[in-house]
Amino acid sequence: MHKKVDFLVIGSGIAGLSFALKVSEYGKVCVVTKNLAEETATKYAQGGIAAVMYSPDTYEKHIKDTLNAGDDLCNEKIVRITITESTERIKELIEWGAQFDKTDSGKYSLGKEGGHSESRVLHHKDSTGQEIIRALLQKVKSHPNIELLENHFTIDLITQHHLGIDISRGTTDIKCYGAYVLCPDSGEVVKVLAKKILLATGGAGNVYSTTTNPEIATGDGIAMAYRAKARIENMEFVQFHPTSLYNPGEVPSFLITEALRGFGAILKTTHGEEFMHKYDDRGSLAPRDIVARAIDSEMKHSGDDYVYLDATFLKANELIQNFPTVYAKCLSIGIDITKEKIPVVPAAHYLTGGIKVDEHGLTSIKNLYATGECASTGLHGANRLASNSLLESAVFSNRAAKHATKTRYESNFCDNIPDWDAEGKVLNEEMVLITQTTKELQSIMSNYVGIVRSDLRLKRAIDRLELIYKETEDLYKRSILSVPICELRNLINVAYLIIKMAQQRKESRGLHYSIDYPDKAEVKMNSRR
Ligand code: FAD
Ligand code: SIN
Repeated sequence: MHKKVDFLVIGSGIAGLSFALKVSEYGKVCVVTKNLAEETATKYAQGGIAAVMYSPDTYEKHIKDTLNAGDDLCNEKIVRITITESTERIKELIEWGAQFDKTDSGKYSLGKEGGHSESRVLHHKDSTGQEIIRALLQKVKSHPNIELLENHFTIDLITQHHLGIDISRGTTDIKCYGAYVLCPDSGEVVKVLAKKILLATGGAGNVYSTTTNPEIATGDGIAMAYRAKARIENMEFVQFHPTSLYNPGEVPSFLITEALRGFGAILKTTHGEEFMHKYDDRGSLAPRDIVARAIDSEMKHSGDDYVYLDATFLKANELIQNFPTVYAKCLSIGIDITKEKIPVVPAAHYLTGGIKVDEHGLTSIKNLYATGECASTGLHGANRLASNSLLESAVFSNRAAKHATKTRYESNFCDNIPDWDAEGKVLNEEMVLITQTTKELQSIMSNYVGIVRSDLRLKRAIDRLELIYKETEDLYKRSILSVPICELRNLINVAYLIIKMAQQRKESRGLHYSIDYPDKAEVKMNSRR
């Protein structure tokens, strides 16, 4: 079975849906998403979306904060593009129906988060992502040019490789013609041919045991792009959010938004002592890499399983009004945040690197774009500034849509792509082989490739990964396709990229900290300026 569309969009978060809405004026669009359309990281975004709205904030201040957080690895041109286009993208989200909170004076209410020198985070209480997804999906579902395929899993991108032509990582004119998509209900693999393809598959938090990311975040887009020989970069920079709710056994970990610290909440040890000023003058609102490392260090020192976030001294009615989701969640496990401190631990939260793209969101493969968390635009450098990712997705999906529509006549359908070959595959009846290997992988990554790394830990990780890579490739080749085996394979690919790039970085910078190289190298490695 096959399908032909002008634009194939893989992913239904902010990146995929905003692109789909833009290009739908120029041709037929198919949005493929592996779960229900709303089940995305976007839906769980709490704090909000950063943008310059009013004085005394300025583009220059937001640019400076982004560059500072990125620890000299941001691409300054990309930072300038993103920030100066921020206000326009916010206006567009509002035109599409997204509602952000306002103050009594009628101006948008702006929150403050770590590393921001001004209050500039637009929000919808503490469920901003849910509001954005609601508005975008409503538009997408009613658009006659957009077909939405829910519960469809993209397996691999189609390139010349599928025409029997050899391509390698050095090949310069790789072209993408579409993707093979599995419909798990029927077991059928659909060949979707398209002129322009967007990867908007989000992050890969599930490569770790503890993450704030939903189950869908298994790095599929990055793994697919890597297999198709696209350029990937900066994978060593994994952002651990300092404050996920300590609630053993809960998957994914519930996020306690940084906006709560922006509102005044303070980190304390289990003995009630403030500790952040030992590490940074900005205290509990220092950038995330610093706060996460400080908590990790305090926990290692004390042997405790968590630290506390104290909001008990803040006004109870304001807390409940501004953070209803956090309040209700904590209450559901017996913690009244107006009276009791919240136990928190760092958890894997955001993948800063990804598929390398240019200022139009174009990857190193022709006709293939990537935006959102799976992409590496150069905005974040070595560390993402809070609430800059929803913004980045909106800005680069807009840019990619403009480029894709302008150049669509240069691309043709490729009609001689073969159907998916399922010959010789047998049903894998032992799910335990997949579930156990996934746990093993997550444990390797959490124990050896976490907030603090060393050469020895990384070597252990890569040695162990090699074994599970071989076992899983063997199983994949023999088994009838299923989502779990594909996701495991993708997670292993992503883990490999994180470890390999961490091994190459002989310094500590931003989110990558190695006890063997505690200082930042003088000469910038991998600089994109
Ligand atoms: P997502 O929203 O994750 O969407 C990915 C899509 O790809 C999904 O539809 C998924 O089903 C689909 N997909 C993946 N693989 C496949 C496949 N193989 N086949 C088909 N479909 C596939 N950022 C901020 O800026 N501000 C915040 O306040 C904020 N809060 C956050 C809170 C939480 C708890 C989390 C987890 C993240 C938060 N972030 C925040 C980060 C931000 O939400 C994400 O970076 C952003 O939403 C990513 O959007 P996206 O469109 O790239 O991916
Ligand atoms: C948060 O609300 O703390 C998350 C913000 C982000 O990840 O940008």
